[in-house]
Amino acid sequence: MSETPPSAPTTFKVQLTLSGREIECRADQFVLFAAKDAGLRLPCSCTRGMCGTCKSKLISGTVDMTPDGGIRQREIDQGWILVCCSKPTSDLVIER
Ligand code: FES
Repeated sequence: MSETPPSAPTTFKVQLTLSGREIECRADQFVLFAAKDAGLRLPCSCTRGMCGTCKSKLISGTVDMTPDGGIRQREIDQGWILVCCSKPTSDLVIER
């Protein structure tokens, strides 16, 4: 008889091209904090989507982002994200 495994949260792979690292990020976790958990220090300040310090270029993948004034629509259209308020909805490649 096999036990039912605990329902594992969905995780995605996040590749950080400048750091040369690949980390795991849960679907319910902001990328910035997943990076911190993995021992990576990414530039950040407010950690609430307000200041723009953590703005990073999303090379591939999709995120669920909830910014609070720290990024312009024009920048979003150009592929920039705020990693402090972005949760992955697919595997990601980020220029960081
Ligand atoms: S750290 Fe301020 S917007 Fe992300």
